Amino acid sequence: MDVVTALDRLPKVELHCHVEGTMRPGTVVELAGKNGVELRTSDPTELYRYSNLDTFLEIFWLVQSTLGSREDWARLAYESIVDGAAHGLVYRETFFTPARHLDAGQDLADIVAGLAEGLAAAEGETGVRAMLIADIDRAYGAAAGLAMVKRLVELREGASPGAERVIGVGLDSTELGVDPTDFAEAFELAGKVGLRRTSHQGEETPPSHIWAGLDVLGSERIDHGLSSLQDPELTRRLAGERIPLTVCPNSNVVIANAVPRLELHPYRRMREAGLLATLNTDDPALTDLDLGREYQSCMEAFGYRWEDMVAIALDGVEATWLDESDKRELRARVEREAAKLAAELDPPR
Ligand code: HPA
Ligand code: ZN
Repeated sequence: MDVVTALDRLPKVELHCHVEGTMRPGTVVELAGKNGVELRTSDPTELYRYSNLDTFLEIFWLVQSTLGSREDWARLAYESIVDGAAHGLVYRETFFTPARHLDAGQDLADIVAGLAEGLAAAEGETGVRAMLIADIDRAYGAAAGLAMVKRLVELREGASPGAERVIGVGLDSTELGVDPTDFAEAFELAGKVGLRRTSHQGEETPPSHIWAGLDVLGSERIDHGLSSLQDPELTRRLAGERIPLTVCPNSNVVIANAVPRLELHPYRRMREAGLLATLNTDDPALTDLDLGREYQSCMEAFGYRWEDMVAIALDGVEATWLDESDKRELRARVEREAAKLAAELDPPR
């Protein structure tokens, strides 16, 4: 077996993946037709043109706007997991960002129920487990973020269908010109009711935003964290406390245009500095990517060996919000299957 195939089959977890960013191009076209959303073109190579995070987000928002009902969310979640399973995904904590749908009058209860229904159907078929992280969209401001968390708390207290799948909250969308501390109240409420917390920081912003994510918002993980190494004290803190970074090297090149080429991405240096830097795809269907190719391209770009890639997959397990016994079980599965794959590798390792 060649290493490309082996990496595709290696059991992998994913902690930084936006469910809307996994929508198949064919589904975008179908849902747009169904819900009356006009697309410039149905050709994804034409449609998905962007040069930085903010121009990418315009496309992301267009794709999001095709989701009009509970059944659309269910289809999206289902296809997302089926597609991940084809490339070795075994567990995912998936973001969804409902700000514009809530603003347009959809109910969070329907969105959560739809997503949970789709995930459950895909779990039954593929064995891949998936949970949800409700992201606040920075572009909609602090009041909308707090309102979303309050509604989420209501759904949990009322045992609304699917609410138990939402294990945490996050913060995404545009970073530039937004003060992360604006969202302190929403994050505080989330923490108080036992929701886990993460936030996109440092993709286009300096280490000060990562500090704010940790100390003001109480984030247990940082999504991207690309600028971490610019601050030695921050690096020591992140490494010392094993605070996971959910890094998306290909996305940082293709979407944020923050690094000109994968070879120049600090990922390897981040790991060498002791950071718990996991590998993730961010928005795979919008960037023509999958988790297998994320691993393969990084192995090649950073000169990693098979063993390094297995260690990265295992760090992914450590960085999950699974409980300790589930983590232990998943870790054992990755180790067992990695050993089997290694025995079949040609040339042998
Ligand atoms: N950054 C911020 N917001 C996002 C991203 C991202 O990479 N992808 C989808 N929403
Ligand atoms: Zn992201």
